[in-house]
This record gives sequence, C-alpha cells and structure tokens, in this order.
Amino acid sequence: MSKIKKAVIPAAGFGTRFLPVTKAIPKEMLPIVDTPTLQYVVEEAVKSGINEILIILGKNKKCIEDHFDISVELEQLLQRTGKTDYLKQVHDISNMAHIYYVRQKEMNGSGMAVLEAEAFVGNEPFAVLYGDDIIYNPEKPCLKQLMDAYETTGKIILGCQNVPREEAPKYGIIQPGNTKGKYTEIKKLVEKPPIDKLPSTLASIGRYILTPDVFDILKHTPAMPNGEVCLTDAIQTIADTTGAYAYTFDGKRYDVGDKLGYIQATVEYGLRDENLKEGLKKYLKSLKL
Ligand code: G1P
Repeated sequence: MSKIKKAVIPAAGFGTRFLPVTKAIPKEMLPIVDTPTLQYVVEEAVKSGINEILIILGKNKKCIEDHFDISVELEQLLQRTGKTDYLKQVHDISNMAHIYYVRQKEMNGSGMAVLEAEAFVGNEPFAVLYGDDIIYNPEKPCLKQLMDAYETTGKIILGCQNVPREEAPKYGIIQPGNTKGKYTEIKKLVEKPPIDKLPSTLASIGRYILTPDVFDILKHTPAMPNGEVCLTDAIQTIADTTGAYAYTFDGKRYDVGDKLGYIQATVEYGLRDENLKEGLKKYLKSLKL
C-alpha cells in the first residue's frame, strides 16, 4: 500500500457566512488570534508528515499565496530592526512545505474542487482537509490518526465525531455498518439529513483519506439540482463498491466556518497563548453575563 505524501486543501468558497469581511478577504485568511485559519490546517498536514500540499483557490485568493510565500522586504526589515522572533516566525511559514496552487474557475462544488487535484495527486492515496474545521490535538494531529487508520484498513477513511442531535443536519452523517472501537464501516453517507431522518449522529468532519479512483468517479457523478458536484456522492460510490470507513478521531474540533465556532476558537486559542492567557482569563471572569 502506498504511503500518503500529499494533501489537498479546498479554499475556493465565497465565505458568504462571513460577509462583509469576506468581500475582499478570503475566509481562510481570517485569524484565530494571530494566525490565519488556513495556516492551522497546513500545519496539521505538515505535523502529520506531509510536505506536498495543493491549495485549491477561487477568485481573489492572491493573499493566500502571498502568506505562504517568502516576503523579502518584510524579512529584511525585521532583520534590520532586530525583531528576530518575528523574523523566524515569518520565515518558517514560507518554509513549512511545498505548497502548490490551482484555481477552480467555476464554483461548482466540493467534488469539482477535489477533481482539480487529479494531476497533482497522480496515482497515490491522498488527504483532503477542509479549511472550515480546525482540530486541536497537540499529541497526535487528526490527519496523522487518519493516515494510520488508512494503513490499518486500506480503505478510504473519513474523519468523524459524534455531534449533538440538533446539529447533525449540518453535516454528512454516517449510516453505520459494523463498528469496532474507533472504526465504523460506512453503509451510507447522507449529506445534511433532516433531523427526523438521521441515520446516526456520527458526522463527517472535513478530513478525508481518499484513493485516486475518486477522480474517475467524480467525472461520472451527476451534479445536484444546484449544479454542484458533491464529494459526498463520490464517497458513497466508493463505500458501495470497495468500502469506506469512518474513524472517530481524538481532538477538539472547532467549526471556524460558523461565527460562534470561530469566536469559540479565538477564545480557546487565546487561553492557550502564554502571553495572552492571564489577561484574557481576567477579562472573561470580569464579564457580568
Ligand atoms: C462539508 C461536507 C459535509 C461535512 C462538512 C464538515 O459540508 O459536505 O459532509 O460534514 O463539510 O464540515 P459544508 O460544511 O461545506 O456544507
């Protein structure tokens, strides 16, 4: 079985839930404390041992490329002014991994976004990470857990967690087959089911290990009435044929594509920051709510 060496991060959405800021700034560049959400996702891939990353861009995403590029003027300025901590931080970002970009010309769904990665991926299994989900696990990154699960099963893997019942309709939900510990066979993956038709509360959380047969499947997957081709439909085809697993990963997950989830992530990452935590704690305690 080939090892997973490549990751794909779709970042082509409009970010409508965060308008007006996303009119000119990609939602992936919104910061949690001082770091763009997309950088957390790239770091998760890098810490999992991946150093070939393709970011799928939409329109107006030039600042994403700039963020991961070297910034000679800024580095010279930081050098001249002796700000060596910042210099290291800025330089390390441009050195994290080999990052490539492709532009998705039409906004025609998560399936078509992933199809843009075909030439980059070639004939190997690969990871897909959605930028709306940030997963905190300082011991073992979520993606590494899924890569290990793939080595165990040899089947495609979806990173999953149980979510509260009332939130389940926001997700792709697993209809479970056999379950053993953290592994659940996927019978069906139902995209955003209504609350009275939930097959379970085990939700797919924006982390996938896929095999390259997904590309041909995507080319033959019919678009939904809104014209979008959904990655979920192609995954269902794989689950029906070669099989697929949900893996319940360990880690605290933040839905940073949602305003409340974004604020929660900001507060909790702030509380983890050595320089901020005392001041922030004091401030939070002072709020008479
Ligand atoms: C996408 C997927 C869905 C998954 C979710 C996780 O939905 O289609 O299956 O549960 O990401 O964040 P979206 O949030 O893009 O609507």
